Amino acid sequence: MKISLTGIKPTGNLHIGNYFGAIKPALELTREYDARYFIADYHALNTMRDPAELKSCIREVAAGWLAAGLDPEKVIFYRQSSIPEVFELTTMLMAFTAKGLMNRAHAYKAAVQENAEKGDDPDAGVNMGLFTYPVLMAADIILFDSDVVPVGKDQVQHIEMAQDIAQAVNHTYGEEVLKVPQAAVQEDVAVVPGLDGRKMSKSYNNTIPLFVPEKQLRKLIMRIVTNSQTVEEPKDPVSSQIFLLYKLFSTSGEQRDLAARYREGGMGWGDAKEELFRVVNRELAPVRDRFNNIIADTAALDRVLAAGAEKARPIAAATVKRFRKAAGIE
Ligand code: TRP
Repeated sequence: MKISLTGIKPTGNLHIGNYFGAIKPALELTREYDARYFIADYHALNTMRDPAELKSCIREVAAGWLAAGLDPEKVIFYRQSSIPEVFELTTMLMAFTAKGLMNRAHAYKAAVQENAEKGDDPDAGVNMGLFTYPVLMAADIILFDSDVVPVGKDQVQHIEMAQDIAQAVNHTYGEEVLKVPQAAVQEDVAVVPGLDGRKMSKSYNNTIPLFVPEKQLRKLIMRIVTNSQTVEEPKDPVSSQIFLLYKLFSTSGEQRDLAARYREGGMGWGDAKEELFRVVNRELAPVRDRFNNIIADTAALDRVLAAGAEKARPIAAATVKRFRKAAGIE
């Protein structure tokens, strides 16, 4: 089986956009791949400086993925920071990474551009963590002999950089030293509409969090913005945010029924929202219960992650050893 690797940034408050856009598609990988998942907590250090917040984000994200169905017996699930080999490999890869390559990285370029617009020093506010982010990410990937890295379009450049860096090493020492990863660009993932109709995103403040209590979930759904059509008027399911969300949580039979009720007239937006709440809660209630149980026992959660690190470290050590031998360090 080929190896897939998914890196999860520990940003808090998972929402249903993450659930359909990232978590579910990533968990599908276990069917086809020897799948590995890790929490990219050192990447988070570039931006998150509140220790209590970072700690709770890491646990929340780990618990969220486990609650959503990640089976730590079947896959390898670990924290990046539990694998010191990540940093050994990062240092070695640095020697093969052109500075010019890093200058072209989108995130760094955007920061420089923003500074230029403000008339600031080009590198104001840029730390080396941001500048070398692609090398750390290349190490994450290469360390675990990843064949495939499923990513959104925004991350493709990072994978290309990982390829460049791995190829530079192999070009020097022979093709067998590092595996060159491929990006699997996720094109067909659902874009989930938010409460205001725009794409659901934390930055728009329009999300439905995955693990809110039932009452609050209902309240949020009731807040979805609608037009001012009366109860009697027939309504168009295709252009309705409520219906778009409903589709994610319902069977095709249910969708046909609700579409018919839309078109007949006589159903108000309040009723449509009740129907939506019913199916959302049906799917999320068990996930929420599992999440609450997992997060209530952080010692057990930490043990799961520690056991994942135990499985991951020999793989990482073997990669580092291959590289060190090839380079004449061992
Ligand atoms: N950069 C990725 C993101 O912003 C997270 C990430 C870090 C990652 N290391 C990775 C993803 C390795 C895939 C493989 O989402």
